[in-house]
Amino acid sequence: MADVFVARRLEGDALGKLEEAGHAVTVWPGNLPPHPTELRDAVADTEGLLTTLTERVDQALLDAAPRLKVIANYAIGFDNIDMDATAARSIAVGVTPDVLTDATADLAFALLLAAARRLPEAAAAVKDGRWRTFETQGWLGADVAGQTIAIVGGAGRIGSAVARRAEGFDMKVLAVGRDDDLHQALQQADFVSLHAPLTPQTRHMIDATALAATKPGAILVNTGRGGLVDQAALANALHSGHLQAAALDVTDPEPLPPDDPLLAAPNLLVLPHIGSATHTARAKMTALAVDNLLAGLDGRPLPHPAK
Ligand code: DGY
Repeated sequence: MADVFVARRLEGDALGKLEEAGHAVTVWPGNLPPHPTELRDAVADTEGLLTTLTERVDQALLDAAPRLKVIANYAIGFDNIDMDATAARSIAVGVTPDVLTDATADLAFALLLAAARRLPEAAAAVKDGRWRTFETQGWLGADVAGQTIAIVGGAGRIGSAVARRAEGFDMKVLAVGRDDDLHQALQQADFVSLHAPLTPQTRHMIDATALAATKPGAILVNTGRGGLVDQAALANALHSGHLQAAALDVTDPEPLPPDDPLLAAPNLLVLPHIGSATHTARAKMTALAVDNLLAGLDGRPLPHPAK
């Protein structure tokens, strides 16, 4: 039976299904991802590969894996995978849709609320002992109810789930799709939430021009991919005060080096890419990835193909 390499320890027990099916499974034991050379060594005999977004699947990796049949990416996004190169080798690529939609939409909304109401600063003041009394003018933030949100990638699964949450907060939703006028929506929105996939077309879609078009005082939330945003332009927009705040679950690279200029920008909240990080979502992601591997190893169509 086939050799399967799993690039990280995973939540849930679905990997057992691979062993039950007779496959030999190796799980990378480290907390940090395998270095590209370690990954190349690990896949020499592999027919099934489970990757996360930190594993770059490029030509060099595919060349090191002559027997590879199927890649199960532990994510809904697949910008870490060279899809032309996998297609040229007829290697099936699967993803983990739907099961992380609510977790990621919840986190986008948590970031929106945290940035609007300045939760990190307020909580830090309590912990540091700087909070002395009820303050009539301390930590004043932005309203959420009744405000307008532009949801970029608004027709997708996660964008639609964020829209439902926003409607529950009596917000006006502008769903921005591929063919819609992004800048027009940015001019009207008090909040902008990014959910577009990262492609050559969407890379840096939020650049200096887009940020200049944004309504003064707007708040940017990104739970999609860091590459959607030109981070130097974002730092400028925060320093100038044009943007009120930005709350990011994703950056480029991840993690940002501690001396990255973006981290010195004011009113910035950055999380360590935890959009799908609930026990349930992650266990279900494992189950979907295993279903993709089992199908690909059997030569069946993947139940959850990347495209
Ligand atoms: C995804 O699924 O693409 C997330 O970013 C990883 O959970």
